Order: sequence, then C-alpha cells, then structure tokens
Amino acid sequence: MTHAPANHPVHVGIIMDGNGRWAKQRGLPRIEGHRRGVETVRTIIDAAKDLGIKYLTLYAFSVENWKRPGDEVSGLMGLLEFFLKKETKTLVKNQVRLLTIGRTQELPEAVRGQLENAKKATAHFTDHTLILALNYGSRTEIVDAARAYAAAVASGKEKLNDSSWATFSRYLYTADIPDPDLIIRTSGETRVSNFLLPQAAYAEFVFIPTLWPDFTKADFAAAVATFAKRERRFGLTSEQLKPAVAR
Ligand code: FPP
Repeated sequence: MTHAPANHPVHVGIIMDGNGRWAKQRGLPRIEGHRRGVETVRTIIDAAKDLGIKYLTLYAFSVENWKRPGDEVSGLMGLLEFFLKKETKTLVKNQVRLLTIGRTQELPEAVRGQLENAKKATAHFTDHTLILALNYGSRTEIVDAARAYAAAVASGKEKLNDSSWATFSRYLYTADIPDPDLIIRTSGETRVSNFLLPQAAYAEFVFIPTLWPDFTKADFAAAVATFAKRERRFGLTSEQLKPAVAR
C-alpha cells in the first residue's frame, strides 16, 4: 500500500507494553495493569483524532498471548468485552470506524459479538479508523494470506506469473489499510514481537521507556514530533529525495 508523503504519519501502530511491570511495581495483580492500560487506550484513541492521525492500530492481543496464565487471558478477554460494550458509543460520537486484524474467529463468543456490534455501528465513518490487532501475529497473517492467495490461483482468480507484492498484499488482513508510517513501543523493550512485519517494511520506530499505563497524549505527540524529524528514504539516497521536498 502507499506511504505518507509528508512528515506527518497517516498510520501509527502501537505496541502497548508494560502493563504487567506497572502493576508489579505497585504490588498489584497483573490484571490491574491491564485495567489501567484500558484507560490509556481510551486516552490515546482520542489523542489520535486530535493529532490528525487517520489510522491507529493497537496491538491488544497476540497469537502468543494465549500462553499466559489462564486467569490473565480470561481477564484480558473480559476487559476487551467491557471496553467494546462501553466504548462503542464514544466511537460513534467521535466518528471513528473500528476494524480488526487477526484471527478474531477464535476469540470468545461474547467478545466477537461486541466486536460485530461496534464494527457495524461505525462502518460508515471514513476520517478516522481504529484497528485492534486481536489474536494477531504477522507470521499467522502471512500463512493465512498465502492460503487465500493459493486458493485464488487455483480458482484462476489470480495468475501465479503475475505475483507481486501489490497482488499478494491484497490477501493480508490489512488489504485496505495503508502501511504504518510510525510504530511506537512503550516500556523500553526494543522488539517488534510479530507486529505488522511486512507492512512495517519502511516504517519508522520510536521506542519509549514509559510503561503503557503511564503513556500520555503528550508522549504520543512527542513520538509524532520525533517522526516528523526523520528522513524517510524508501531505499533512495538523501540527494534523490531533495527535489521532492518543497523549499
Ligand atoms: C503488554 O503488557 C500488554 C498486553 C499483552 C495487553 C494489552 C492490552 C491492553 C492494554 C488492554 C486491553 C486492550 C483493549 C484494546 C481494550 P505486558 O502484560 O506484556 O507487560 P509486561 O511486559 O510489563 O509484563
């Protein structure tokens, strides 16, 4: 998909990390960290709109997260269900469309129901999109896309000889979503953790030491400002880019 031409990100992805450590530092159960993390999610969805970010993807639950202790997994699913139930009204009020990426068909029925409601209620909005990555992993996404692509080749809908990134990427979960320009990870970890790997081929990364429950709108704005100072070359040289820069 296309990239943002200007120095303002069209699509920001966030790896929301550090809920567990936030809780541990306070002697609280991990789920308390996630609960506080949901508050930050609310703040950041609002902030994205104010900062003029059209697409915001939040990494809420990975395919690997099922391996966490059972009570944490069910606690997270409960928080997600509650969040969707409560937040749909606000998304409608703020005209934010909700999309998901990931194998959402494997989520608990109650969560799927809330997701369907929220998606349906917001499907007609076009200016701002919130994408929740749920039961998401890039490798799983690539396998799912390869399967769908192979089926399309077998049925004659696609021609193997015409294969290109442009044709194959139409089978990713993100087919209709532009590539992320900026990926932020909180908590000081400097890993990608199976998040939007092919889509982030030319993304800028900003790693922030703040734990997710403490992440603020000001931190978000600072990350966007850092992005604005970066020179994105997309494989070209600095000199080649110069004529394209308005002076
Ligand atoms: C990482 O912190 C966070 C998660 C695995 C879950 C993120 C979920 C939320 C913020 C709440 C639910 C989301 C929505 C959209 C309502 P961690 O537990 O790995 O923290 P740690 O590395 O400090 O242990």
